[in-house]
Amino acid sequence: MKALVLIGGFGTRLRPVTYTVPKQLIPLAGKPMLYHVLDLLPAEVEEVVLATGYKSEQIDAYVRAHPPRWPVRTVSEAEPLGTGGGMKNAGGTMSDPFFLLNSDVIAAVDLGEVARRHARSGGIGTMTLAEVEDTRPYGVAALGEGDRITGFVEKPEPEAAPSHWINAGLSVWRREVLDRIPPGRPVSFEQEIVPKLLDQGLFGYRLSRYWDDAGTPERLLRSQRLLFDDGRGGRGTLPAGSFGKGPVALLKGAQARGASFGGYVTVGAEAVVEAGAHVENSVLMDGAVVEREATVDGCLLGPRARVRAGHRVSHQVLGEGGEA
Ligand code: GTP
Repeated sequence: MKALVLIGGFGTRLRPVTYTVPKQLIPLAGKPMLYHVLDLLPAEVEEVVLATGYKSEQIDAYVRAHPPRWPVRTVSEAEPLGTGGGMKNAGGTMSDPFFLLNSDVIAAVDLGEVARRHARSGGIGTMTLAEVEDTRPYGVAALGEGDRITGFVEKPEPEAAPSHWINAGLSVWRREVLDRIPPGRPVSFEQEIVPKLLDQGLFGYRLSRYWDDAGTPERLLRSQRLLFDDGRGGRGTLPAGSFGKGPVALLKGAQARGASFGGYVTVGAEAVVEAGAHVENSVLMDGAVVEREATVDGCLLGPRARVRAGHRVSHQVLGEGGEA
């Protein structure tokens, strides 16, 4: 099987960081969000096609410099085509069936098992579903016998939501769905196409462990905690010469001598946490600096962002080179 990964969105909810970096390259528990998604793919996947658009060249360069275990190709769109348009644009060589992955979700799931369930169902698609309290930002499934999806409503008002089971952004489809997408214009796969596929047998696969959508600052940090707790944060121990508690993922050239940590932190490449500073529940991207005696809690610091000596920042997002 092959996999198609949607990675062309603007990431508006993670601005200002995403003005200069695509959200999929933000490191969570020591690794870019995109790579946590790719990790879910079975080893035998033949090829991964990245349907890119916004900041495509950065994603392309990163993937070349850090090749994943599968052959990867990027197919970029000149204008944003939406999820369905991106699938149509990049999916020409997809297998039958193929995996379709959003690049901004984290989950614990055996996608090989999802593919086997799909094959047994005889349906056109199998969509993993996550159970959430607030369904408003998502596509919500109505479920019938055998978890057949009998209705699908994108971003409903709470009273119109047919269940609490939402599209988790990890699915398997027969190749023919690509023929149902009109070419050459923006198309939302979830809004325009999925409701028309229900009569051909779309099945839900309920996720039983964790799932999150890392698309907002708060959920991005919650995703990082889930990944660390699941042991997906590399060594996650305290950096040499620092104290407090882990897990902390330290990337190449990062320094934290004399700093203290409160756990669930990524310190990006060449980033520095100076002596006497304290950081917890945060992501510091490459080259970010937390100066001495500063405190950072619940923050996303973009590349080369800086928190001045003695300052306390909590629940803030600083863009590239930003200061607080
Ligand atoms: P926000 O702007 O913060 O909503 O984030 P987003 O742009 O990523 O949008 P959203 O989370 O709804 O997107 C879901 C998935 O589809 C993500 O993996 C996006 O990268 C991807 N995506 C969204 N729009 C497009 C598009 O126009 N083209 C492609 N190829 N992918 C897209």
